[in-house]
Formats: sequence, structure tokens, C-alpha cells
Amino acid sequence: MLALLQNLARRLLGPPHRYLRWSFSEQHNPLNHLGSLSIFFCWVVLVSGIWLLFFFRTSVTGAFESVHYLATEQWYLGGMMRSLHRYASDALVVTLFLHIVKEFSRNAYRLKRWFSWATGIPLIWLVFLLGVSGYWLVWDELAQYVAITSAELIDRIPVFTDKMAANFLRPSLLSDRFFTLMAFLHLIGLPIFLVFGIWLHVFKLSRPRINPTRRLMAGTLIALLLLAATFPAPLQEKADLARVPQVVQLDWFYLHFYPLVDRWSPGAVWSLLLGLSGLLFVAPWLPPGKAPAVAVVDLDNCNGCQRCAEDCPYDAVQMAARSDGKRYQQEAVVDPELCVSCGICVGACPTATPFRRKSALVPGIDLPDLSMRQLRETIDNVTEIPTRVLAFACSDSAELRWLKKNGKPCVEVTCAGQLPPPFFDYVLSKGLARRILVSGCDGDCRFRFGSRWTEMRLRRERDPHLRRRVGAHRITLASSSDSTSPAGIASLWRELDNAIDEDES
Ligand code: HEM
Ligand code: SF4
Ligand code: SF4
Repeated sequence: MLALLQNLARRLLGPPHRYLRWSFSEQHNPLNHLGSLSIFFCWVVLVSGIWLLFFFRTSVTGAFESVHYLATEQWYLGGMMRSLHRYASDALVVTLFLHIVKEFSRNAYRLKRWFSWATGIPLIWLVFLLGVSGYWLVWDELAQYVAITSAELIDRIPVFTDKMAANFLRPSLLSDRFFTLMAFLHLIGLPIFLVFGIWLHVFKLSRPRINPTRRLMAGTLIALLLLAATFPAPLQEKADLARVPQVVQLDWFYLHFYPLVDRWSPGAVWSLLLGLSGLLFVAPWLPPGKAPAVAVVDLDNCNGCQRCAEDCPYDAVQMAARSDGKRYQQEAVVDPELCVSCGICVGACPTATPFRRKSALVPGIDLPDLSMRQLRETIDNVTEIPTRVLAFACSDSAELRWLKKNGKPCVEVTCAGQLPPPFFDYVLSKGLARRILVSGCDGDCRFRFGSRWTEMRLRRERDPHLRRRVGAHRITLASSSDSTSPAGIASLWRELDNAIDEDES
């Protein structure tokens, strides 16, 4: 069931990913920057919100008038800012949704990786509370609908004894104090929680990507400005508690569940929202599973070079004072609570080289479930008869399934970053294969840095790098953004086959 849902999510993201890669390139592909784009939209909302704040009046009569003034008389700036505020908030909902689908599709939330997922759930609530309270403040007919329906929802919470919906029965009951409270929540209270929540969400990750690329930010801002100039955010008639608005134009990004309050009941909507949140919260353990064994340090082979600590995407390796009396100053220590068993640290370790004697192939750090020694044995077995192309593919990937199904010589790794460059050197210099295909994730590796570090190591920009004697052109690093289309890897395989023919002729 889980595999089916994840496959569905991959199929949903696959075609837009390929299209966006074709138009923006892999580096600037918005689908590779969903978390950081969400933060960028928060910035746009904040800056445009500050402008609106200068003109907004927090009173029953002043609220609508001040927004009306911005929308009609200061349309060139205030109106633009208001539309920008609205559209950036809507875009935030879209990137948030896609971010959740993407992390789910690539298993980045399971077991040990539960923390970012679980801390993301309150962020969904905060974003929606901010959106709803924002609509309330405008005090037009939509705000009236939002206020009354929200009050019905709030009244269903047993802790509140005073019925809030009663405030909206007669205009005389609605006070300016109430508007000041809403404005405080929307402008100060909720944003503070959101900033803290985002910090908590990413603080355990090493080098979290907080900003999208500059080009992506500029392009996104221009698109939002064009949208704001072409379709100014609508403002409906002023709220009038004496009559029930006949038609309200809902913002479906934020208010899609509001009609359900009338159709079902506030209690049923609460059950749905809490049920969904609860389901999301326990998702990392559904079904329960056993986390793979964490990376293990072998002090006899660790020289304290720190490379594993620098490359680990989850800050799971710390350097500590030497405990075994060897002449080195430091040693690597793995925090088993943080280690997600990606193997990227092994790819960084200078002692992980297959040129060592078989009995001595124990690097400074290794994965017990798929050790360097096992990997070399697999390579030796697969290439008993030297092959033309040898592929290394990440476990769990569609590429690996295609390679196995079509009987292509391939070696399974946890992540492309698990392979130290001496392994490629070993395969090519010993003539075990003519070309190597490394099938990693796209620009947004499921273990965050696996593809990036591999690419840099192959380009000799990051240690341990590929030795000069190895022709880097004989190693192809493929992106698996075509993971839903086996055609991608099939055509790459043909290209490599042809390249070997050309090398020979
Ligand atoms: C305002 C809302 C959110 C923002 C701004 C945000 C931002 C981010 C950022 C910047 C990252 C780090 C990306 C990287 O450097 O690799 C990230 C990772 C992640 N987020 Fe979010 N996020 C939000 C909501 C959510 C939600 C609602 C969920 C799921 C329920 C979620 C799940 C995750 C997961 C699973 C990771 C990856 C952790 C890993 O690689 O192990 N996020 N998010
Ligand atoms: S296996 Fe991955 S998470 Fe664990 S220590 Fe190594 S790089 Fe870090
Ligand atoms: S990369 Fe290897 S040798 Fe260097 S500190 Fe880590 S385990 Fe030790």
C-alpha cells in the first residue's frame, strides 16, 4: 500500500519535474527547491505585509475602508502589495503541498527521519491560521463568511465557554478590541511561531537550503508581480452583519474546507482535520519498520581527517578527542539517533579504497548492512566477465529495477554518495568495465547531498577526488528525475554503448 502511494506520488511529480527541468535546467528547477521556495514566499508575504500594515486600521469601520483605499486609490503600490501578499500566500500553499508530496514520495520522512516531517505538521496549521486570519481582517463579505464559519468551528472547542459566533449576530456586539486582537495574531503572534517552527524544522539538518537560487527567486518574484498587475486581488462588498452575503468568492487555496462546515458540521470538520493531522504525524511509523544499521567507526582505520563529519547531511558525525592513544588528535563518533544510514560518510573516507587487500578492506567508517568489502565482492562477481558498461544504482530506485529486469550488469548502493571515487578507478583501471553509469537522484537527492558530493568528487572539486589517471569522461552521473520513465535510463544505456563503439573505432 505504502509503495503504491509513493509510486503514485512519483508519477504525479515526474512529468512536471521533467518539463520544469527542460525549461529551467536542473539547478533552477522549482521542484528541487520546494522547502526554500516556501521560505521565499514567506519573505514576500512579510515584506508586502509590512507595507499594508502602514495603512491598515484595526477597527470595525476602519479595516475595510483602509483596504478599499489601498485597492482603489493606491492601486499602483498598495494595491500591488496587497495582490502580491495574496498571491505569495497562495503560492506558499502550493509549494507546501508539493513539498509534502515530494518528501513522502522519496521516503524522506520514515523512521529516523521523522523529525523534519513531524515538525512540518504544526507549520501547516500555522500557515492556514495565518491565511484565515488574514481574510478575516479585510472585513468584506468574504471576511464575514470566514469570521462566522471560523467562529462556529472555534465554538466547538470545549475549552471556550463564551460563544464566539454570538459576536457576529449583531453589529453592535462586534468591538474594535476584537479586531486589534485579530491583527495582533495575524501580524505578530502567528508569524513569530512560524519563524520558530521553520527554525525547528531544519535545525537538525546540516547546511539546510534556506534560499532558492537567485535566478529562481528573481523569476518567481517577476511572475508574482506580473500576476498582481494583471489580476489585482479581488475585494468584495463591505461586510454587513445585518444581511447574509449571497455569493462569496472563496480562495480555494486556504478555504477549501470551509463549505464543509455548513454541509457537514463543525464537529465533523474538526474530526477530519485532526484525523488527517494525526495520520500525518504517525506516518513515519506506518507500517512500523526497522531502521537499517547505522554507520560504524573503526578506530584502527580512522585518521581523524573530518571528511565524514563535513559530508554527512544529517550532522550525525562529530569529531571527538582521540580515545585510543593513537597519534591523531581526533576521531569520528556517530550519533545513532541522527544517522539515517545513507553511507555518504563512507564515500568521503580516504581509507575506503578497494585497492587495499581484501582482508584489510575495513574503512574508518562503514555501513554494516552494505559494507565496502561487500561492495567490492559484488563488483568482482558482476564483472567476472568484463562488461562494457557497469551501472551503480541507488537502492529503491526505478533505475535499479529497470537495470535488473533487463539483465544489465549493475551494483546496488544505498546512495550514489556512498561510492568513493577509488571504486570507479578500481573498475576502470582493472579493465572490469569500459564505462561506468552512476545513477543518482536528481538535483534534489533523497539523502540531500549524495549526488552533489559525487559530482564534485568526480570533477575533482571535493575530497576524496577522482585521480587524474582516470578519464572522467568514462563515468556518467545520471539523474533519476526520469524515475517514472524507464525510457530515460534505457536511452542513456544505448548512448554509453555507442560511445564505447566510437572509442574503439
Ligand atoms: C512553511 C512550511 C515549510 C517550510 C518553509 C519547509 C522548509 C524546509 C526546508 C528549507 C527543508 C530543508 C531542505 C534541504 O535543505 O534539504 C525542509 C526539509 C524537509 N521538510 Fe519541510 N518545510 C515546510 C513544511 C513541511 C511539512 C508540512 C512537511 C511534512 C509534513 C515537511 C517535511 C520535510 C521533510 C521530510 C524534509 C526533509 C528532511 C530530510 O531530508 O531528511 N516540511 N523543509
Ligand atoms: S550514514 Fe549518512 S547519516 Fe549516517 S553518519 Fe554516514 S553520512 Fe551521516
Ligand atoms: S573520513 Fe574516515 S578517516 Fe576521516 S575522520 Fe571520518 S572515519 Fe576517520
